[in-house]
Amino acid sequence: MNEQAQPVGGPLFNPLSPDFIRDPYPHYERLRTLDPIHVTPFGQFVTSRHVEVSLVMRDKRFGKDFVERTTRRYGPEIMNEPVFRSMSHWMLQADPPDHTRLRGLVVKAFTARRVEDMRPRIQEIVDQTIDAVIDRGHMDLIEDFAFRLPVTIICDMLGIPEEHREVFYKSSRDGGRLLDPVPLSPEEIRQSNARNLMAQMYFQQLFELRRRSPGDDLITQLVQAEEDGHKLTNEELTANIILLFGAGHETTVNLIGNGLLALHRNPDQLALLKARPELMVGAIEEFLRYDSSVQMTGRVTLEEIDDLGGVKIPKGETVLCLLGSANRDPAVYPDRPDRLDVTRANVKPLSFGGGIHFCLGAQLARIEAEIAIATLLRRLPDLRIDDVANPEWRPTFVLRGLKRLPASW
Ligand code: HEM
Repeated sequence: MNEQAQPVGGPLFNPLSPDFIRDPYPHYERLRTLDPIHVTPFGQFVTSRHVEVSLVMRDKRFGKDFVERTTRRYGPEIMNEPVFRSMSHWMLQADPPDHTRLRGLVVKAFTARRVEDMRPRIQEIVDQTIDAVIDRGHMDLIEDFAFRLPVTIICDMLGIPEEHREVFYKSSRDGGRLLDPVPLSPEEIRQSNARNLMAQMYFQQLFELRRRSPGDDLITQLVQAEEDGHKLTNEELTANIILLFGAGHETTVNLIGNGLLALHRNPDQLALLKARPELMVGAIEEFLRYDSSVQMTGRVTLEEIDDLGGVKIPKGETVLCLLGSANRDPAVYPDRPDRLDVTRANVKPLSFGGGIHFCLGAQLARIEAEIAIATLLRRLPDLRIDDVANPEWRPTFVLRGLKRLPASW
């Protein structure tokens, strides 16, 4: 399959159009070459080159300013909507000092050492998942394979009891629209509120349980921090647990799914990885670069910016960072950036962001994907994806992933 950029026409940045969702990369190339600081009809500044994307994420003159930015887009009433109110407490949307305080409460659970210790558990879940389908001869790589691992691991970390988990395995993966740079419709806001309130209700009950019978898990830790007084409020606690649950699974499901699709579209790379499993750690970085499961993040200018790629940006403006585009910028990856190459040297994808919000779960996601993909190649070496040319993508832009990916062996 030729992944080289094809000429495309139409608007430069229309991220929810089916064509963009199917293959955003030719659109990114146009943005990088024709209009690297592009302004959308909603007045957002879109950065697509590696140099600006990485600067905006790391520079203190850019922040989140969530309430102000969201109110400007939707009007002052929006913060009465439960889902937006809850998001305003996410560490992902917070600026220092709140960000520093909230991140500090959970960061220890995600250190490289803690995550390394999870390898045997991750391997056990992957093996059980394959055991459950191996005699069938076919499965959906998303639903039957990629989905179960990250959900189980985040449930383990949060301390969600085994008997409550079935509802999480069955829950929909429709929350992703919240992150897209195109405003939600009233109906989407209504559905998001309903999902958010259900989650709030469930977690409040679980907090009660953990106050009465503490465990060795993140929720117990945070409930104790809340009782301590000034460390975090009940609303912050609930919101950040919902964030961890969401951030911890959809993204990783899609790293595994997008990685498997990319490999099967490039049979030479698949054969190489099967023959040399020691390449897997580097291959995961290449999957992250080649087709990131998070395509974009954003910041707000906290002061006037004199010169971003030659453009002056007033204070209070939204700047979008196209991570997926920066990852294929030939200025950083001169050797055919549109090619999947599991032996590529110096791959440092921006897929986990940068600066103070750098993904808390980066190492966990890498290890989950490494064990999942390595085990699948080893245990089902004849696996074939039914339709590599036209897989069905989910209709969201920021979270890039497949609806399903049927495969047989
Ligand atoms: C392939 C998988 C993943 C990708 C591509 C990814 C991507 C990202 C990105 C781009 C950011 C930063 C956004 C920004 O700068 O505005 C972020 C932040 C975050 N991620 Fe991930 N993520 C992944 C997996 C995970 C996992 C497994 C967890 C937790 C279990 C997690 C938890 C978080 C949290 C809590 C933040 C907010 C950190 C902060 O604001 O300080 N992520 N992630």
